Formats: sequence, structure tokens, C-alpha cells
Amino acid sequence: MAGMKGIILSGGSGTRLYPMTRAANKQLLPVYNKPMVYYPLTTLMLAGCRDILLIVNPGDAEAYRRLFGDGRQWGIEIGYEPQPKPGGIAEAFLIGRRFIGDSRVGLILGDNLFYGDSLPAVAERGAQGNGAVVYAYWVADPSAYGVVEFDAEGRALSIVEKPKQPKSNWAVTGLYFYDSDVCDVAGQIPRSARGELEISDINAHYLKEGRLTVEKLGRGYAWLDTGTPSSLLRAAQFVETVEDRQGLQIGSPEEIAWRKGYIDDNAFERLIQPIRESEYGKYLQRLLARG
Ligand code: DAU
Repeated sequence: MAGMKGIILSGGSGTRLYPMTRAANKQLLPVYNKPMVYYPLTTLMLAGCRDILLIVNPGDAEAYRRLFGDGRQWGIEIGYEPQPKPGGIAEAFLIGRRFIGDSRVGLILGDNLFYGDSLPAVAERGAQGNGAVVYAYWVADPSAYGVVEFDAEGRALSIVEKPKQPKSNWAVTGLYFYDSDVCDVAGQIPRSARGELEISDINAHYLKEGRLTVEKLGRGYAWLDTGTPSSLLRAAQFVETVEDRQGLQIGSPEEIAWRKGYIDDNAFERLIQPIRESEYGKYLQRLLARG
């Protein structure tokens, strides 16, 4: 969709992964064979976002630039803004206000991994929808997430951040789409008890105004967490299992750029040349040869 903007929130302190995160930002850590941030980046690309802002810790901007450059090699545009300190997910809309302008915007958290056959269509619907569109996913332990309560007709009734007594098992995932009003909403909501601008307060605001759509992701999808050492390992094992079985990779920006026609065969070939000895490079060569 023309004018659609995307933001990846990729800062934070990653304290639960310490000491892995002592010298490296959490979202730069590997999930099996790629940096974690590749997965949310490709989810945004599959949703049709080609204009992307990465919000990172001031000290990490250089590393992210080394990873992504300006994005043109993949037929997209990537810009960078620092978040001085982790003040909450909704700060993305204050930091990104100029970037968003009057466009619709998708926000994805740098540590969220989504997988599923119709994910591109589901994400595209959010990108092209009205008001706010968020996704709910059934989890065994919802208390670590934003939790949404539904009525008998499946309409959202409430959204609460990390409730001690969750009203349902439906967690709100880290992929969100909003109209450009979200910047004003982020400017209005108060900081929470933990001093953060909470994304759940933004969603609750849209809900109150009757402008929130909560789409359920069924059990045929995977939505994985990478916040603790075990969940990071499980996410890596999931990617390894699926990729090894299919011989197809999850979350490759080169592949998606090429399949979507953002880059032609020649540009794809130029990307492959310097990395042709790696497993990743060999995989991309096989794709190109198959056509
Ligand atoms: O993963 C989905 C959940 O993400 C939602 O269900 C919750 O409603 C939402 O608040 C969030 O909860 P978390 O506790 O998982 O958020 P966390 O603080 O771990 O931040 C998620 C990612 O966003 C993390 O990779 C770092 C990045 N981040 C976070 C904050 C608060 C930033 O870059 N800057 C920040 O200020």
C-alpha cells in the first residue's frame, strides 16, 4: 500500500538475557542462523512496508547500520532514530512522529517472531485497515503480556498490560497497525506505574473510541518469544526444524525482496556474490537457479 510506514522497535536493555546482552543488543543476537531483528523486518516487508524506521539504543545505531545500511540493496528504505532510554513501546510514536507524518503505520517489536502460511495476507489486512488493528494469540501463560478479553460475540471488551489475574488466554502480540492519529494518542496517555508509555494504553484508547480491531491468530500460527534464554533457544530450534525439513528459510530479506520484485535477478546475484561460500549464500543461489 502506497505511503505505508513501518517501525521496528529494537532498543531496550535485554536484562533477562544478561550477560548475552552485555556487549550486544538483544535483537542482534542470533535466532538459529539470522540476527533476531531479521524476523520482524521480514514480517513488515511481507505486510507491504517498504519505508521502515528502526528505533535503536544510541550506542547500537552503528551496528544496525552495518547490518542494514539504508535498505536499498533490498529495494526498501531504512532510516534510524535513537531512543535515549527504554521509556516504553508507545514512545515509538513520539520518536517516529515526523517519519509517520499522515501515513498509516505498522509497529513491530524487534524480538517478535511470527510464522504461518497466511501471515502475509493477515498482516496486509492490518496494514490496509482502519483505526488500530492488533493481533491476539492464545498462550498458556498470558500474565507476561497485554491481555485482551472478548465477549460472547468475539468483540474485544478490555486490554490490560501484564494482569495478575488475566481475563483470558489471549495475549496481544507485538505487531500493531494504526492510523496517524496514534502520535497524538501517544502524546496524551500518562506514563504507567513503571514509568513507561504502554502500548496497551494506546490500544485501550482506540478500543474506547470503537476504533480497534483485534484479529485472532489461530493455532496454526507460531508467535514466539525470545526474551529469556530458554525461549530464545526454543525459537532457534523452531526455525532450524522448519528450515531443515523444507529446505526453505524463514525471515530472509533478500529472498522476500526478490520474490516481491523489489530487486531483479541481477541485483539478487550481486547480493549473493560476496556471501556465496556461506550456507545462507548457497541457499540464495539455489533460489536464483530455480527461478
Ligand atoms: O511481545 C508482546 C508484548 O510486548 C505485549 O503483549 C505487551 O503488551 C507489550 O507491553 C510488550 O511486553 P514486553 O514485556 O515483552 O515488552 P519488553 O519491555 O520486553 O519490550 C519488547 C521489545 O521492545 C524488546 O525487544 C525491546 C523493545 N523495547 C522495549 C521498550 C519498553 C524498546 O526498544 N524500547 C522500550 O522502551
